[in-house]
Amino acid sequence: MQALHSRWRLSPARLLRYGWVGFLALLLAACHQDMYNQPKVQTYDPSTFFADGRGSRPNVPGTVAVGAAQTDTYLYTGLINGVEGDVMPFEVTRAVLERGQQQYNIWCAVCHGEAGYGLSAVAQRGGIVPASFHQQRLRDAPIGHFFVIITNGVYRGDPEKDGYQSMYSYASRISAEDRWAIAAYIRALQLSQNATLEDVPPEQRANLGQ
Ligand code: HEC
Repeated sequence: MQALHSRWRLSPARLLRYGWVGFLALLLAACHQDMYNQPKVQTYDPSTFFADGRGSRPNVPGTVAVGAAQTDTYLYTGLINGVEGDVMPFEVTRAVLERGQQQYNIWCAVCHGEAGYGLSAVAQRGGIVPASFHQQRLRDAPIGHFFVIITNGVYRGDPEKDGYQSMYSYASRISAEDRWAIAAYIRALQLSQNATLEDVPPEQRANLGQ
């Protein structure tokens, strides 16, 4: 017990030794200043190195970030030779429709209503008239029209007078795949309000009391 005690006791000489080690450790740690203060261009710093005087450089023309190549023109524009296409760029599965429903209810239902009639609290209180998807013009519209509208938004007002866009673009917030999924879901919404007995498989018509 006695031996253990003396081994761990801090004599003044020992304290001095430990103090030195600590001091040296601090001194070494401070060396990082050299790296920290190295000559480098900070964000938006000017620079005399480049002819235009800017330290920040524009992307080299043609640069494409990894995974961001948009090689499928239709998927990203909804246009075929400049005209809104009437096919989906990928297969519509149940999962795609469910994703479309979820995204529609997140982004669009606040204005257009869950059933797509343009009836919502925003419409009622916000003084705007979101389109109903159950009007003939939109029933006849190609599916690419919905993709183009979600991508670009709608501007029908006079910018001078009205000041704001009727519906803003969702291109930066909803991925192209999800914009198509929403378009497909709008088609399902349209059918849900405009179906006839012929749309029901014969063997299931009895369930409707027909
Ligand atoms: C902030 C409210 C608001 C939100 C949110 C909104 N819209 Fe709209 N939308 C409008 C208004 C207002 C119009 C009518 C524009 C006009 O006719 O001037 C419109 C028009 C449309 C039209 C009809 C375009 C045409 O051909 O006339 C479609 C389709 C549409 N919206 C789809 C969507 C979809 C899909 C979403 C969700 C991704 C969405 N909107 C989100 C307000 C909104």
